Amino acid sequence: MSFIAPILPGNAPFTPLQRAWLDGYLAALFGDGATALPVTRTEATIAVPPPGAQLPAPQDVPWHDPALPLDERLALAAGQPIERQLMAAMGQLDCGQCGYQCQSYAEAIACGAETQLTRCVPGGKVTSRALKELLGGTGKVAPVPAPPPAISRGTASVPAAPGEPLLARLIQAAQLTHHGSDKDTRHVILADESGALSYEVGDNLGVVARNDSALVVQIIERLGAKPDTPVLSTDGVERPLAEALSEFCEIRRPSDQAIEVLSSRAHDIDESHILQAMAEGYPGIGPEDADLLDLLEIFPSARPPLSELISALDPMQPRLYSIASSPRHALGEAHLTVAPVRYEKRARRRTGVASTFLCDRRKPGEPVPVFVRQNDGFRLPPPDRPIVMIGPGTGIAPFRAFLQERRATGARGRNWLFFGNPRRRSDFLFENELTEYCRDGLLNRLDTAFSRDQDHKVYVQHRMLERAAQLWAWLEDGAHLYVCGDAPRMARDVERGLAYIVGKQGRMDPVAAKAYLARLAAEGRYQRDVY
Ligand SMILES: Cc1cc2nc3c(=O)[nH]c(=O)nc-3n(C[C@H](O)[C@H](O)[C@H](O)COP(=O)(O)OP(=O)(O)OC[C@H]3O[C@@H](n4cnc5c(N)ncnc54)[C@H](O)[C@@H]3O)c2cc1C
Ligand SMILES: NC(=O)c1ccc[n+]([C@@H]2O[C@H](COP(=O)([O-])OP(=O)(O)OC[C@H]3O[C@@H](n4cnc5c(N)ncnc54)[C@H](OP(=O)(O)O)[C@@H]3O)[C@@H](O)[C@H]2O)c1
Repeated sequence: MSFIAPILPGNAPFTPLQRAWLDGYLAALFGDGATALPVTRTEATIAVPPPGAQLPAPQDVPWHDPALPLDERLALAAGQPIERQLMAAMGQLDCGQCGYQCQSYAEAIACGAETQLTRCVPGGKVTSRALKELLGGTGKVAPVPAPPPAISRGTASVPAAPGEPLLARLIQAAQLTHHGSDKDTRHVILADESGALSYEVGDNLGVVARNDSALVVQIIERLGAKPDTPVLSTDGVERPLAEALSEFCEIRRPSDQAIEVLSSRAHDIDESHILQAMAEGYPGIGPEDADLLDLLEIFPSARPPLSELISALDPMQPRLYSIASSPRHALGEAHLTVAPVRYEKRARRRTGVASTFLCDRRKPGEPVPVFVRQNDGFRLPPPDRPIVMIGPGTGIAPFRAFLQERRATGARGRNWLFFGNPRRRSDFLFENELTEYCRDGLLNRLDTAFSRDQDHKVYVQHRMLERAAQLWAWLEDGAHLYVCGDAPRMARDVERGLAYIVGKQGRMDPVAAKAYLARLAAEGRYQRDVY
């Protein structure tokens, strides 16, 4: 079905730029058939795929977009074979944290080779619950074997383990944001002492973190246990309780299975019922965003045998970070740009496992277990090609690496960076380096969007709109486009902005503009590393 997208009334109180942006936004929002803009499609300026041509891979799997909410992804996959529907429930990052890609994890579940439904870190509980529901609420695959998938970029077998992590050494986790900032973003430098940490720009670094020992101590106290009590850990090995909780268990988001164990062992019937409802995912039941300590505090009658509880928790998963350095520039080092997760909930300070492991709990000189996650879908083009990099916030990380690489290799292609953060004074990450790159000509264009420096928000996509004609000219010159950073908001809105620019500048209707971007993606000229 196609809709006519609404157009802002002529007297609406917006500047021409805001009006253009909102019209584009509405056009994108109303989908494929929308006709908000009085543009005509001309074949002369842009070659869209001819009718009947083979669709590029991304269109075969339209739900494979981390910027789409789960319900939209599931709707797009409705009626597809079960492994496609399962795939639509994944986080869509192909981040490899589960040991698979989204598609191969789904295929492994569908054919029964994988029974663990909680491996998807970016998808979290929402994904594991959706998987369970798709499998008929049982969490088990129907006995009918899944047909072989029509598209496959990998085989569904056992997950690819990252291998034994290497020990890097923390050199620093220095603050990049300045006094007065609402944010804390860190420049993490890790030294590769083994000489075995081999990476390319665009790769991610997996960090194998430990839980906060203070939190582990509180949990052990609440359990009324001793730290050295042997328990069955999530890896199937018997270990001291403190070690299992510190290194092997996901304690920030207890698994549904662990909540079920708590429910089944709760002496208080009300507590048991609430825990059971939580495990089944009833919305609004029980404490929101509860970690293991919350559950033990709020449900004091739930005290299962230790091994039963510990082995039902999810295994701790590594976290990925975009590498912010080029190995040719930062010899023997890997740099990261990390936003530590810290917030208050129920009068207790909560901290992200890996981000605060790196930024708060490891001291300079201490070891950090890491591995490289190769990211072939996020690579620099040939050296003479222009590139446009869109990376607000921590999304700047891989682009710092790209620039270092282009400098180190003498690549002559033009470079354009869009960067955004709340305030210029406190949040202009790598300001000195970037302005130096502008001065010496490595960065041909730098456009910044400081969102909170004025009354209304200014984001990177607004700057892109202001420079639409030049951006289009770069694209027509063969530029490669890169986006990195927040998936659900930024990457989605940037894509809408891009579609608008392509439509307007290339005189295409929204369908053709979307097809243009899909073609860029299929050609490897539009690459995203979003989370
Ligand atoms: C490919 C890829 C690249 C990435 N690159 C980077 C990067 O360069 N830099 C970077 O900083 N991160 C990056 N990330 C994100 C990173 O992997 C981690 O997800 C992030 O650091 C948080 O992990 P954590 O272990 O510290 O937090 P976790 O222990 O996993 O906790 C995070 C969870 O806490 C909850 N939460 C967070 N804030 C709040 C809040 N205010 N209120 C309530 N709940 C909250 C959310 O449920 C969130 O999922 C990347 C992710 C991927 C997949
Ligand atoms: N998995 C995790 O737990 C975790 C940990 C760290 C970071 N992250 C994610 O990674 C993202 C990156 O964090 P960050 O601190 O580096 O940057 P960020 O929060 O994304 O902010 C960077 C800039 O982008 C702006 N922005 C907000 N919404 C936008 C939109 N729809 N389109 C374009 N720009 C937008 C922000 O403006 P305003 O803020 O002024 O609106 C800010 O100026 C976070 O948003 C977060 O979702 C996740």
